[in-house]
Amino acid sequence: MLNRQIVLASRPHGVPVPENFRLVEGQVRELEEGEILIQNEVFAIDPAVRGMLDDRDDSYLPATPIGGVIPTMVLGRVIQSRNAGFKEGDYGRGFVGWEEYSILNPGNFAIENVHIDPSVPLTAYMGALGWSGITAYVGLKRIGEMRAGDTVVMSAAAGAVGSVGCQVAKLSGCRSVGIVGSKDKADLITGTFGIDAAIDYRAEPDLDAAIKAACPDGAHVYFDNVGGLILDTMLPNMAAFGRIVTCGMMANYNNHDEPYPIRNLWQVLVNRITMRGFLAYEHLDMLEEAEAQLGAWIRSGALIAQENVTTGIENAPTAFINLMSGVTTGKTVVRLNEGVTTL
Ligand SMILES: NC(=O)c1ccc[n+]([C@@H]2O[C@H](COP(=O)([O-])OP(=O)(O)OC[C@H]3O[C@@H](n4cnc5c(N)ncnc54)[C@H](OP(=O)(O)O)[C@@H]3O)[C@@H](O)[C@H]2O)c1
Repeated sequence: MLNRQIVLASRPHGVPVPENFRLVEGQVRELEEGEILIQNEVFAIDPAVRGMLDDRDDSYLPATPIGGVIPTMVLGRVIQSRNAGFKEGDYGRGFVGWEEYSILNPGNFAIENVHIDPSVPLTAYMGALGWSGITAYVGLKRIGEMRAGDTVVMSAAAGAVGSVGCQVAKLSGCRSVGIVGSKDKADLITGTFGIDAAIDYRAEPDLDAAIKAACPDGAHVYFDNVGGLILDTMLPNMAAFGRIVTCGMMANYNNHDEPYPIRNLWQVLVNRITMRGFLAYEHLDMLEEAEAQLGAWIRSGALIAQENVTTGIENAPTAFINLMSGVTTGKTVVRLNEGVTTL
């Protein structure tokens, strides 16, 4: 069986370019005991993968070798199984790579037999009902200890994690404030999502004043997707005993060697802030609750699963380059078999 994959051709410097990627073809090998073969229908495009394309050993994710398949979360229909937990026709999800067929084995990170609800688009299982949504849910509820009445600020609030997070905060009875990088994104989160306030950090001449105006009593929770200037400006704008949820540092991913210098760390003491990093997949005990709640909100229409869908494996590099250029909204996914009805 022929498999098409996208591999790393060369290491990017700054924002990736098409020449960093190469499409290759190969044969799918025979399954070993415990493994399943899935035909991928959709895969996620994630910013954390950018760090795996650098040759460095200070991340929580391993570096991808030159010639290695670009890693990602995939979702596909099981076409062969030597694992009692999966039968043909099931949907398997796991962290494998940009490829048309994947072999999942129990050693893969986040392998799951996903029970697909036909009333929910399949792509949502990669985004709002996948690890982006789960990350937002776990981060706000467990790490941020979000409570009704809190003021919750979300950076990259129109992005994959942020678009779910700012809506979850609103649906949980909080004042939800989103920080975004364009007027269109600001209009999306206030107009379409119904978030209380949006701040366009690129257009604001005084970001600190804009945050103070949107959060007059300070932020109880700041969900940080970007680090950099926005984190630095949020530190003095936290309420006493505020919680900063460190989800990611997007502002530094394209230039790890020269990260933005944080000047306001002293405010951690002044505002008695708890700042805590987390990896969503280390909170598997919350998976069932997160999937049930996010699924119920999506089905009822209370939560909008914003998506940016590209079709065809050959277009995955462009989708990734767009994501890393900051121009996308919602979850960026690649569909591999558009038009094929599988549900
Ligand atoms: N801890 C975990 O378990 C976990 C799990 C999933 C994701 N994450 C992290 O969560 C964060 C958000 O991920 P996502 O998938 O939801 O991505 P995303 O928000 O859909 O896309 C990234 C967004 O970051 C913003 N951004 C800020 N500075 C940027 C810069 N210098 N260059 C490009 N974009 C910049 C852009 O939005 P604006 O235009 O609004 O600035 C961009 O659209 C990432 O840091 C990711 O690594 C963490």
